[in-house]
Amino acid sequence: MGNGGVSESLSGKRLLLIVGGGIAAYKSLDLVRRLKERGAVVRVVMTSSAKKFVAALSFASLSGEKVYDDLFSPADEQEMGHIQLSREADLVVVAPATAHLLARAALGLADDLASTLLLATDKRALFAPAMNLRMWLHPATQRNVATLRADGALFVGPEDGDMACGEYGPGRMSEPLTIVAAIEAALAQDTRLPAPRATRGPLAGRHVIVTSGPTHEPIDPVRYIANRSSGKQGHAVAAACARAGARVTLVSGPAQIADPPGVETVHVETARQMAQAVEAALPADVFVGAAAVADWRVEPAADKIKKTNGGPPPALALAENPDILARMAGRGENGPALVVGFAAETSDVIGNARDKLARKGCDLIVANDVSAGTGVFGGDDNEAHLVSAQGVDSWPRSSKTEVAERLVAEIARRLGGGAS
Ligand code: PMT
Repeated sequence: MGNGGVSESLSGKRLLLIVGGGIAAYKSLDLVRRLKERGAVVRVVMTSSAKKFVAALSFASLSGEKVYDDLFSPADEQEMGHIQLSREADLVVVAPATAHLLARAALGLADDLASTLLLATDKRALFAPAMNLRMWLHPATQRNVATLRADGALFVGPEDGDMACGEYGPGRMSEPLTIVAAIEAALAQDTRLPAPRATRGPLAGRHVIVTSGPTHEPIDPVRYIANRSSGKQGHAVAAACARAGARVTLVSGPAQIADPPGVETVHVETARQMAQAVEAALPADVFVGAAAVADWRVEPAADKIKKTNGGPPPALALAENPDILARMAGRGENGPALVVGFAAETSDVIGNARDKLARKGCDLIVANDVSAGTGVFGGDDNEAHLVSAQGVDSWPRSSKTEVAERLVAEIARRLGGGAS
């Protein structure tokens, strides 16, 4: 802890803050202060209209860094090229994001420094919109927001409230502390955008299907059977495959984390829906089953099951769910060339994973210990063992992103060469 009890949650993080031209720009001064007291390095870029609302000197004083505003400044380019400015950040934050700035970003325009940086960056952008409510609700703005989201952008707000123009509704920029919380949540995940798809990367030309997260098996309209999977490991695998150049279909159970950028994400709830979505995404070169699929389901009651008031409790009759991994492996020539499963174990991790490899007929199993105290369910790190017919490769405990990258390297090695 430092700075009067504020935790240094952003220590060492580099943020590029693009300030658009709106009355909410004054709130971004406080945002810089809050980010700095949490340990972040903040570089500010202002649009020409932002400078009509707040002086560049105010941002320079609060950030302790030079403020950038000119795409064509020879001095700035020599000191820090605009590509470097966009790439050195861990996250790009746009606050306030005006309707005009959103539109330019959605169209991929590069007509000033701010829009050029949004186009050149290899990191995700977090937009904090601020505008009149009609401008926010206008179909054109909503189309632009949907386009940006599909491209991997994140959003915080806008909030409902009184506007500077006297109207009331959605359009107020989120408060600085709300934006700080969104930045912390974004940085807790991988913020790198995948390399432009196509021709580059060891999985270029390949289609990979990844399952992730838990499944929810309804008991009645209000209750369900679930497990502790957060989706972090499966989403990291999907993101790593995309960075390696693959086309990725991620079939995700209900997870509270953002869809990875550059990946087509299909959201499902139950194991049977997950099985269906995986089948629908075929053909694929690779299947990776990282989801914690419920082995069992119940026939859900149409109405909420009532208390029995001292009588015998209701019995849940369980039926077995389809085994998606075994089905993919069982397709042989008609299925993915490489089928990878995960094994979540609480004892004899490698022995049980070997059994699963044989029983399910897949090529590789990533075994991990999910016993209480390991923090693997829901945590950011994992300690995994790659189990195959060739033996066991135990990887050091590392971030789920690093586990995913090791797995992708192994997948690429096994597939060899280019796409078929
Ligand atoms: O989501 P996180 O919080 O990041 O946690 C990550 C994780 C622990 C969930 C992940 O690393 C992991 O181990 N995923 C597999 C969890 C699991 O269900 O393991 P299992 O041993 O029960 O199943 C073995 C394999 O069969 C898995 O690939 C699973 O996806 C698959 N399976 C299981 C049952 C079923 N009906 N269909 C399946 O495809």
